[in-house]
Amino acid sequence: MLSDVSLQAYNTFGIDVKSEYFMKIDSEQGLRNIILDDRWKEVNILLLGGGSNVLFTQNFAGLVLLNQIRGIAITKDNDREVHLRVGAGEGWHAFVQYCVDHNYAGVENLSLIPGTVGAAPMQNIGAYGVEVKDVIETVEAISRSDGQLRIFSAAECQFGYRESIFKQRLKGKYFITAVNFRLSKQPDFNISYGDIQKVLDEKPHESLSLRAVSEAVIKIRQSKLPDPAKIGNAGSFFKNPEITLDHFHKLKLNYPTMPGYPTGLGMKVPAGWLIEQAGWKGYREGSIGVHDRQALVLVNYGGGAGEDIKSLAFRIQKSVQDRYQILLSPEVNFI
Ligand code: FAD
Ligand code: EPU
Repeated sequence: MLSDVSLQAYNTFGIDVKSEYFMKIDSEQGLRNIILDDRWKEVNILLLGGGSNVLFTQNFAGLVLLNQIRGIAITKDNDREVHLRVGAGEGWHAFVQYCVDHNYAGVENLSLIPGTVGAAPMQNIGAYGVEVKDVIETVEAISRSDGQLRIFSAAECQFGYRESIFKQRLKGKYFITAVNFRLSKQPDFNISYGDIQKVLDEKPHESLSLRAVSEAVIKIRQSKLPDPAKIGNAGSFFKNPEITLDHFHKLKLNYPTMPGYPTGLGMKVPAGWLIEQAGWKGYREGSIGVHDRQALVLVNYGGGAGEDIKSLAFRIQKSVQDRYQILLSPEVNFI
């Protein structure tokens, strides 16, 4: 156990705050031992994966546990599908590449999302027409209060767009230790979203494969999103808002180019468009700002403070609210 540890290397925004206590954790039992130890009973514990969806706004008063619970095991295998139990501390993108290598279909569209497998159910990660809920069978988690293991069915996880019970009612109450996936051996390619087909068409002689889809997604993502190793960021800072059809049609009168995607109940409007149109794209103040190629991504060019990014986010939120009467909700977790 270490004290007073800088978390700069452990969050993709690169915010330099300190954690009062810090430990790496590589087994479910190790995690349970800490939970059951009287010393940590009243202490605030944060289980951290890749730190790619957090914004630290102050030093962390408590214990940060860095999740390194590893392991991929086949739990069921037949001609049609394979079931995998994956340790929560496995890297998400490495897991996707493992599936692509073995021809297990279902997660290829989620290539290059940073972070860990255990954090994926937290906000039901999604990209290019796929959400992780589509391939999750169950989630194994340990209770913060008594160390008991609970297995959540996918329905019990209450997955929604960038949402789950772990981000809502059970926030901070359970630590996810493993995720059980159900993947297909007969790929049902999902290439209709965004530019995937266009990128695949650049190599007309290559046959459609999980590898080809994964590579196309990687290429698109690299052209749009800043690499956290170069510029600090946490991906989309806000969720894409859903508004009523009535609201959408009224806004369209004043903003005829505003994009919208029907959701069944209303319209989803790209937050990146709203933020860009409100004049923020490429905005910079000192070490922080709004990415110049993707207005939904707030960035830290180096040395920026979490408090300042939070304050910028609230100003962006207010300007979008004033202009479009749409309240953007943050996707990133403020700590
Ligand atoms: P962390 O940031 O470490 O944690 C996030 C939150 O979850 C924290 O509150 C933490 O305490 C909690 N948590 C983490 N692990 C556990 C656990 N095992 N049990 C309980 N709680 C836990 N997201 C998308 O959905 N789609 C994208 O396309 C996407 N693109 C991104 C691109 C970039 C460049 C970046 C930087 C981020 C992107 N993200 C995207 C966001 C992020 O990668 C995901 O949310 C990812 O799942 C976070 O994983 P992590 O391990 O880094 O979580
Ligand atoms: N747009 C602009 N200006 C911008 C950015 C976007 O006008 O600066 C508009 C364009 O109309 C564009 C549309 O927004 O067509 C959508 O943009 P993009 O394809 O870049 O996707 P996004 O809606 O901004 C979402 C997810 C991403 C995910 C991609 C691909 C959310 C909050 N974000 O971004 O997830 O990778 O789609 O599926 O849903 C994340 O969650 O961190 C994340 C990166």
